[in-house]
Amino acid sequence: MLSFVFPLLGRFHPVLVHLPIGILVFGLILIFLSKKQDKAFLPAIQLAFLLGSIGGVLACISGFLQYQFEGFSWDTVQFHLIFGVLTTAAGFFFYGKSKKTNDPSTLKWSSTALVGALLFTGHLGGTITHGEGYFTEVMPENLQSLFGGSPSYAQPLTLPEEGWEEMAYYEEVVQPILNSNCQSCHNPRNKKGGLDLSNKEALLKGGENGPVIDPHQFLKSSLISRMELPLDHEDHMPPSEKRQPQKEELQLLRLWLENEASFDLKLGAAKPEKKWLEPFFQREEISFYPTVSSAAVAEDSLAQLRKKGFYVEPIAQGSSLLKVSCINFPDFQDQNLGDLASLKGHIVYLDLSGTKVSDQILTKLKDFPLLTVLKLSHTQVKGANLESLNSLKNLKSLYINGISIAQADLEKLDKLPMLEKVFAYETGLFGNELPKKFKFKLEIGSYELPPIPSDTIVY
Ligand code: HEC
Repeated sequence: MLSFVFPLLGRFHPVLVHLPIGILVFGLILIFLSKKQDKAFLPAIQLAFLLGSIGGVLACISGFLQYQFEGFSWDTVQFHLIFGVLTTAAGFFFYGKSKKTNDPSTLKWSSTALVGALLFTGHLGGTITHGEGYFTEVMPENLQSLFGGSPSYAQPLTLPEEGWEEMAYYEEVVQPILNSNCQSCHNPRNKKGGLDLSNKEALLKGGENGPVIDPHQFLKSSLISRMELPLDHEDHMPPSEKRQPQKEELQLLRLWLENEASFDLKLGAAKPEKKWLEPFFQREEISFYPTVSSAAVAEDSLAQLRKKGFYVEPIAQGSSLLKVSCINFPDFQDQNLGDLASLKGHIVYLDLSGTKVSDQILTKLKDFPLLTVLKLSHTQVKGANLESLNSLKNLKSLYINGISIAQADLEKLDKLPMLEKVFAYETGLFGNELPKKFKFKLEIGSYELPPIPSDTIVY
């Protein structure tokens, strides 16, 4: 019946540790206030060392109980515990010394070392409860690296509004979620519970209690199940006093596990609900588009276009830049581009996928100088005059999925100064050959080519 007493005493550890810290530091202050041969504070100094050391004993006992009853591993607590006992012993030693001396000022340097050891012990303890990086994570990045912290730990998940479907689910979604929520305690230098969550190999290896991903019951894996425990459950991860993951991060982790924790999966292929991605879209995406200072387009000119079947929206509230899609206008043909002519200085995103446009449209598109994203997938475009796009100095993403295009035509795109990504799935390009390298990143399904370093580009 009294079995709760010891665990309860253990829980007093965080309170009791402050006794030796406070009282011994006070003793040290009195020593430093004592001039040579000045005994005025001696009785108080002796009392401070005695009480501080007794406080140390209480802290050690309660700490040991907490270690026993709260499931801390020996690896985690060992140094803190050993230093705690040594510091307490040293406290008594100095108490003995203070009883023997007549001149407290002679104790200055040795007692400074004692308080140093005490603070170090306290820091080790703080690291157990708050995790490594408790101090560094609030510092600016350059200070963090000075103190040995790794700022990358805190990089939260971000998704581009354009092209998130193509992101590698594990590498670009799961790992960032683990990095920002778990890595401060589960990294190669600090493996709480024997677990490192900083890369694929370590993740597969698991922790003290074996794998954290269960290949028979993915959704019961301890990786996720410990995050789903009630916040006040002692096994809850991350520990309840730490920042908790957003519910959308949990959804995304769960969906990845549902897809058998595949390391090759693309985010789009897992069909996440859009609302789970919403919080991670980079709203400053606006800077993805060119900066112009023209007034927003009048609402009634937008309304007219909508009547014709276009989807038209400003890229952000009050912005003069427009996103246009013909998704509800499958009969759109080359000549219909004239309908958009009045807005050519505003359109940065144009989705013509699935419409009836042909190669002719490519020459007309040069009148849309701000185009940044252009989607021509599943159209009749063949790419014969793809070089006409070269005047689109702002073009960053081009989608030509599902159209049969020749490799030689694709090469013409290498002249586009801003082009970052070309999506060319189901184009039959390159067959089984390893494709040529381009300045832009080419996505053709089976291969993913990183852009070649710019120092090898011959202009
Ligand atoms: C503040 C430090 C801290 C953070 C942050 C943290 N953990 Fe832990 N984790 C621990 C400690 C300490 C243990 C060992 C004690 C235990 O098992 O409860 C542990 C153990 C685990 C274990 C059990 C490993 C084993 O084999 O016993 C899993 C799984 C785990 N953590 C997952 C996570 C996940 C997932 C996150 C991020 C969402 C996370 N942890 C964040 C401190 C932390």
